[in-house]
Amino acid sequence: MADKRVTFASKIGVVAAAAGSAVGLGNIWRFPSQAADGGGAIFIFVYIACILFFGIPVMMSEFIIGRSAKANTAGAFHKLAPGTPWKWVGRLGVLTGFLIMGFYIVVAGWTLVYLGQSISGHLLSVDNFSAHFNNLLANPLKQSLWMIVFTLLTAYFILSGVRKGIEKSTKIFMPVLFLFLIILAIRAILLPGAGAGLDFLFKPNFENVKSTVFLDAMGQAFFSLSVGMGCLITYGSYFNKNINLAKTAVQVTFLDTLVAIISGMIIFPAAFALTSNPSTIVDELVTGGPGLLFITLPELLNQMAGSMIWSTMFFSLLALAALTSTISLMEVVTIYISEEYRMSRKKSTLLVTSGVIILGVISSYSTGFFNILDVSTAKYMLPAGGLFISIFVGWYLNKQIVAAELTNEGELKFGIGFLKMYIFLLRYVAPIAILSIFVYGIIG
Ligand code: PHE
Repeated sequence: MADKRVTFASKIGVVAAAAGSAVGLGNIWRFPSQAADGGGAIFIFVYIACILFFGIPVMMSEFIIGRSAKANTAGAFHKLAPGTPWKWVGRLGVLTGFLIMGFYIVVAGWTLVYLGQSISGHLLSVDNFSAHFNNLLANPLKQSLWMIVFTLLTAYFILSGVRKGIEKSTKIFMPVLFLFLIILAIRAILLPGAGAGLDFLFKPNFENVKSTVFLDAMGQAFFSLSVGMGCLITYGSYFNKNINLAKTAVQVTFLDTLVAIISGMIIFPAAFALTSNPSTIVDELVTGGPGLLFITLPELLNQMAGSMIWSTMFFSLLALAALTSTISLMEVVTIYISEEYRMSRKKSTLLVTSGVIILGVISSYSTGFFNILDVSTAKYMLPAGGLFISIFVGWYLNKQIVAAELTNEGELKFGIGFLKMYIFLLRYVAPIAILSIFVYGIIG
């Protein structure tokens, strides 16, 4: 069985798929508003520390677990640690993935609504964007319908399989996404007055820092990198034996962070350059939250020449970023059910699609439910998963397996210092940092 498991066909495919999972609404929708809320450069600094101290190490661990076990997220723990409770970490991961889908897919649906309205020119005629967005929020039926469209679209790629669905689509979508991102950033930065936006993003703003900045940055790091729930265990299980796991983790993390920062370089310069009330723009950005992308930005884009093109480009970017992430989330749950309950990919996809639609409908009808899913998964479940994964690879997993996976059975040369440092990060730094941030977040 293990030998027949499909793999991604190419190295580019591996990076595209994993970066496709990582780069998503988290980068474009969540990162900028979190950065604004957390004091600009201060948030970014803490965020980057989180990425270095536990983002990359945990990502490498997920790849190691996945490729060595060649199984779905729960099955992998079962295989590597048979007869132990470790399988619950895998099951928790699959559950987390399912719950993330439950709210993420609703936002993904919004991107389709806005994309449609950009293409049809409807957005041009909107004059109160805040009311426009609130109308959408007050219309759960419409949200549900577009959420279902997005779920079915995702299911289509899952049904097409690992190579023809996931790899092929991400290899096309990711370059398009980058192209749109760069064009939009150049356009935004060239706007007169854009500099104030860059200052806002990159200068430390001590007034805005909150005591929760560590918890927020940690949650954002896990969420944005897609680590902590075994998404990259599942993808890692499709990696060939010649993939350099450490290098792939660094490349994916680099691309993910780049997209987050460039997104900030689109949104803040646009906001400062195009706003008609400079006195309130900072408040709007800080408190804007999710509304930032669906209220502030379209309103601003509307004031630019050729706004139809810009907003079409922006919402296609968002929809594509969301799609390559929902594909990865759905794959985790689908392959889990298919392997653990011996079901065909088709049946399993059908089951997962129905489950996601049920959660999505509830989230569309209840903001409370939506928020609970968002906060509990990003701030608590992913870091908890990351904590267990680092303990698993750092303490439990045979170090020969770890070394064999990182060096591709001795083919790649890493200094012994590198391996030691990696294990040290997993054993002590990551768990202690994650735990202290938890404790601090809860009592602080
Ligand atoms: N990383 C994705 C984003 O930033 C979200 C995600 C989280 C996807 C966890 C898969 C697993 O949008």
